This record gives sequence, structure tokens and C-alpha cells, in this order.
Amino acid sequence: MDAKVVQFSDYVKKRKSTPIRRLLSYFKKLKKSGAFTGRSIAFLIFFVMIACLISGCKAPKGRGDKLLGREVTVGFAQVGHESDWRIASTNSVKQALSEENGIKLDFIDCDNDTDVQIKAVSGFVDKKVDYIVIDPIVSTGWEDVLTKAEEAGIPVIVIDRTIDDSEKYVTWLGSEFTDEGLAAGEWLKNYAAKKGLREINIIEVTGNEGSSAENGRSAGFHKYIEYEAWNIIDSRDGEFTEEGGKRVMDEFCEEYKGEFNVIVAQNDNMAFGIMKSLDEHGISYGVGGDMIIISFDACKNGLKNVLDGNINADFECNPLQGPACLKLIYDLEKQAKIQKETFMSETWYAAEDIVPEITYFNSMGEEVTEPIVVVDKAAVEAAY
Ligand code: AHR
Repeated sequence: MDAKVVQFSDYVKKRKSTPIRRLLSYFKKLKKSGAFTGRSIAFLIFFVMIACLISGCKAPKGRGDKLLGREVTVGFAQVGHESDWRIASTNSVKQALSEENGIKLDFIDCDNDTDVQIKAVSGFVDKKVDYIVIDPIVSTGWEDVLTKAEEAGIPVIVIDRTIDDSEKYVTWLGSEFTDEGLAAGEWLKNYAAKKGLREINIIEVTGNEGSSAENGRSAGFHKYIEYEAWNIIDSRDGEFTEEGGKRVMDEFCEEYKGEFNVIVAQNDNMAFGIMKSLDEHGISYGVGGDMIIISFDACKNGLKNVLDGNINADFECNPLQGPACLKLIYDLEKQAKIQKETFMSETWYAAEDIVPEITYFNSMGEEVTEPIVVVDKAAVEAAY
């Protein structure tokens, strides 16, 4: 995958020599030479006073305004705080789009409410921010507000989930959700063959309907349901939350107990809720259990559950998009050419060393072979 994750250090220029820094180095030299006398201390105090007068005794505004030549204001309309993935995404963007890096960030948590998100973006246009970053809850309904941003000349950067009308934003940065679903399908096909599983009866707990994360993962995985003639028992929206996963799984356990052997959770938090429900219903899962659990995200707690053998396979969705988002803003400031799409790098994980790699046709129609990484402690520690 075309990963273009950029380090902050790429953008932090060397600090320039200032009167205070020159003074400190003079002070160090004096100390070394043993010439630390009453006269030198008086000189030091005098120099500090002059330096303060020259600089107006102001605290520096942060290095960023020097990096960009101006303070850049960015409005970010985030989906909400529904999952570990989302928290990591928010932290990554806040860390990168910081005052230190020349950005004044106006952050709005839209709490999974599409109206709130549209209003947030409209408000950013009214405030005349320099850039708008959107992680769209759903992929439709953006026409009016993005036309308003366009007319105001404010570039829109979309991250993570997508918006259907790609003409309305400058660039997008995120994951190829369809490939995540395809990879999960190909892994299950191979895993079932190695385990000699004849029947695949699937229960699916999806993420928010209308989100491109849900659309892509479903589209990819359902190709395999079709090709392999697997049986899909039912599919319901668990809203990407632990509570949603638990609620839907409780319903499924009541309605279909004994009829399914594979559970697909479209994110880790829903998988956590699903496992709680299975425990309460006395149903075993994971390595050696009655249910195969497939999940997406590969957050720290997700991978810990893979390591412990509770989740069989976890397909990463990388939320650490802040640095690459910062680079896009820097490039736009420099009026450099930017690409329309940037894909995050991602890894596929499993609990057992049974399927070492998978080969499949990705969403671009290219045949790809990718490793399946068996989770160890280091992988859990390194996860977000
Ligand atoms: O859009 C990314 C998805 O949204 C992640 O899989 C999920 O955890 C989040 O809430």
C-alpha cells in the first residue's frame, strides 16, 4: 500500500541563534574559564534586561508561525469518540496540528451526529478558517456545505472515511476499507480450508450504516460470501461501539443460537461487546472455541485479544493520520502539488500461524500477496 506517513521532525527547522541563546553560551564559556566574577554577573543582568527590552519580553508564539510564515487556522470536524480507533485518530491529529507546528486548531467532536457535523463545517466557513479537515460520519449529504466552503475559497481535506463527491474536496487521506474486507474474506477462506471447516455460517455486526468504513468492509467481505457461497445468517448495525456490539450480539444469541460459527465485527470495540455477550450466553470463541471471530482496527486491546486467542484475526485500520495531514497542509501552503489520495499502511494480524500469507485481487484489480502477522507481545506494545 502507498503509505506516506511523515514525521514531525521533517518539518521542524533548526532553531536560529537568538540574543538569549548567545547569552547562555557566553555564560557557559565564562563558567568553564573560571572567570565567574561579580563583574561578569553584573554584565549578565544588564544583558538580560537589554534582551528583554528588545524582544518586548513576549513569550514566543510557537515555532510554527515561522515555519509557515503565518499562523494557519484549521477547523477539524471529527466523527465522535465511539471507539479506541477514534480516540487515537483525534490524538494523532491534535498532536500534529499543534501551535508548535504553526496551526491553530478548532476541534469539534460531532458525537456521531451528521447534523452537528454539517453545522460544524458551516461554522468553520463563517469563521473563515484557512483549512477545513473533515472525517465524514457518512459519505453523502455534503453538497451544500462543501459548495459554501468552495465559494469561500477554503480548501477541504477529508481524512479516514470518504465523501462520495470527490470534486468537493482537495485531497483525501485514509484507509482502503474495501481491501480490509477483501483481505478478511481471503483469510477466512484459507483458514477454513486449513481447519477443514465445511460450513461457514456468518453473523455480521456492521459499523454505522452510510459510513464509507462500513460500505467498504461490507463490499469487500461480501464478495467472498458470494464467491464461496458462504451462508450469511444476519447482519445488523452495531454503530462501531462496544455497547452496540453487545446489544446486537445479545439479539443474535437469542434468535440464532447454534446456527452460526463465524462472527464478523467491523471494529474492535464491537468485538469487545460481542465477547461479553458470548460469555453471558455461554458460547465459546476464538482459538479452540466454537466461534471464529474476525475484527477490524487492530488497536492495542484488539491485538491483546488476538494474542490471548480470543479474536482469531484482526485487520488493521491505521488511525495515525495526523503527521500526513500536517504535511498536506504544509504542501498546500507552499502551493506544492499534492496527490488526490494518500493511503495509510496497514497490517493483517492473526492468532495462529496457519495462514502465513494471502493472495487476492484488491479493489484496484491488482493481484497482491500480503503477510498475515502472528501477534506477539511486541506487536501489542507497538499498537495504538
Ligand atoms: O472510520 C474508521 C472506523 O470508525 C474504525 O474502524 C472504527 O473503530 C471507527 O469508529
